[in-house]
Amino acid sequence: MLHTSAVDPFAHLHDESYASRYEAPVLGADGLIFVEGRSTLALDGEWRCTLDPFDEGLRQRWFADEPTPPAQWDAPRDYDSEGGRRVAVPGCVNLYDPTWLHYEGAVWFSREFDFVAQAGERVFMRIGAAAYQCRVFLNGVFLGVHLGGSTPFCVELRGVRNGRNRLQIQVDNSRQAGRVPMHHIDWFNYGGIYREVSLVKVPHVFIADFGATLAASPGHNRLRFDMTVSDAADGVGVVEIPALGLRAEIEVRGGVGRIEVDAVPVLWSPENPHLYTVHARFGQDSVSDRVGFRDIRVDAEHILLNGQPIWLRGICVHEEHRDMGKRSSEGTERAMLEDARALGCNFLRLSHYPHHERVARLADELGFLLWEEIPVYWAIDFASPATFRDAENQLRELIRRDRNRASVIVWGIGNENEDSDARYAFMSRLAAVARQADGSRLVSAACLINREKFMIEDRLAAHLDIVGINEYFGWYEPDFEGLSTLLGNSRPGKPVVITETGAEAVAGLRGGRRDLFSEDCQADIYREQIERIGKAPYVKGLCPWILYDFRSERRQTGYQSGYNRKGLIAEDRRTRKAAFDVLAAFYRDRAGVSHEGRGLTPP
Ligand code: GCU
Repeated sequence: MLHTSAVDPFAHLHDESYASRYEAPVLGADGLIFVEGRSTLALDGEWRCTLDPFDEGLRQRWFADEPTPPAQWDAPRDYDSEGGRRVAVPGCVNLYDPTWLHYEGAVWFSREFDFVAQAGERVFMRIGAAAYQCRVFLNGVFLGVHLGGSTPFCVELRGVRNGRNRLQIQVDNSRQAGRVPMHHIDWFNYGGIYREVSLVKVPHVFIADFGATLAASPGHNRLRFDMTVSDAADGVGVVEIPALGLRAEIEVRGGVGRIEVDAVPVLWSPENPHLYTVHARFGQDSVSDRVGFRDIRVDAEHILLNGQPIWLRGICVHEEHRDMGKRSSEGTERAMLEDARALGCNFLRLSHYPHHERVARLADELGFLLWEEIPVYWAIDFASPATFRDAENQLRELIRRDRNRASVIVWGIGNENEDSDARYAFMSRLAAVARQADGSRLVSAACLINREKFMIEDRLAAHLDIVGINEYFGWYEPDFEGLSTLLGNSRPGKPVVITETGAEAVAGLRGGRRDLFSEDCQADIYREQIERIGKAPYVKGLCPWILYDFRSERRQTGYQSGYNRKGLIAEDRRTRKAAFDVLAAFYRDRAGVSHEGRGLTPP
């Protein structure tokens, strides 16, 4: 049945403003609910899935149809919510069917669920991530729209019924110039609901956000807690850390409360990833989290963790798996961290977008430091206010999601963005957003070098704690001496981390040091890079590009076949290349240096 005006059943064919009815309410950071320590109802599993490249679902209001067997239809339909392909959620649309690999556009997911409402309770749905634009419909009613392909969002299921409910979610992964990232990227554009979907029941007034961190104090002997509760309520919250014998009350006014208390926690570090169970209550609501307390700051050209200088032995990773796409599991995440450990890493750059929240939890548990970032990547539409709102919201969702993760030490606000006044305004505002949302971490970006002066210099650095630099001397720029010149010319006055360098190699292809795409060429470039980087006094970390080969449609030579081959391990996540051992040897040496006088064996 075409749900259009009673007069003309074909009006939708001529209405190009059809999407405007579904641009609000916008779901974003302020709508997130603190979920740690809560029981949730998983909606993962079998959903129905229908591709919709022409946006018929919104044009014809597919969501309005009650699911009925075709034999009962009183008019022809173009969509059957119960007739779509059965697929597993979480999952990537592109891997549901070999013919869908390059699909970009709208997809409709639907399923039914039974619900029993309790008096005084509210119910929200939380989606861990859906790429890229996501609209939610419950029982034929549009509830809201979310932008951003890698951060969680919540929507209150107003109108949920006792008994059977119909949930429909439209997800659109089309690449667009005004999105974040925009339409030109060097990774695969997976679409779909690729992280967990769950229902969260909360009391009428509930804890929407809760933070626990080490307060800024020289002796590392004060903790800060803050609590945000729904509906701007007033009252008294309670925080407890049994292992510290700590109990404190938080005065909440207008929905917000903050307190600092004296305490002497065992400080978290990669060598000693000590976590505390923290409980928080307000009214009828209670949550809990596992939190490590540590201090991260910069001092001149040093990065200090708990007051001690550190050197970041890193590696970049994409969230991409040959067989699972952008979906990950605890197993793949643990295996990735084991590979990073084997490499000798104490640091990972989760590029170029927020990875699954489990990765930061595992890093808390296993002792890794993390750089997390939003996909302000390459030529973003820096002049667009809507693009800024999208980037800002993704940054605030990421910070709200991972603010209690000790492992996260850097918020990355961009990657390889050419300098312009619009870019400078856009990203300096983003840096301010990060500091306002969370003053306890460092802010950085992967910057480009100043080619005119051939220096590490970017006016954005004034707003950054660490200057990230991407450089590919030896690969895209064959002359290694350029790196020596660059490092010798530069006086950044703050810590620099080489946030990308590397070269492509086909696993198993051997040759001479200048045989491009051979393992020997990649290994030689790592040796030459390490030789120079290791001597620069203000370089306090190295994060080569990248741990695993990954899909990218920009890479179409016979060596690449749709893969970017800069991995130190092939896309099978088993076959190591010669450069792996070159970097591992360097990190073993560095680990000895950075633990001088501390008597700690590196993790
Ligand atoms: C850039 C970019 C990466 C890209 C890499 C490469 O530095 O940040 O996303 O994959 O170069 O060229 O392989």
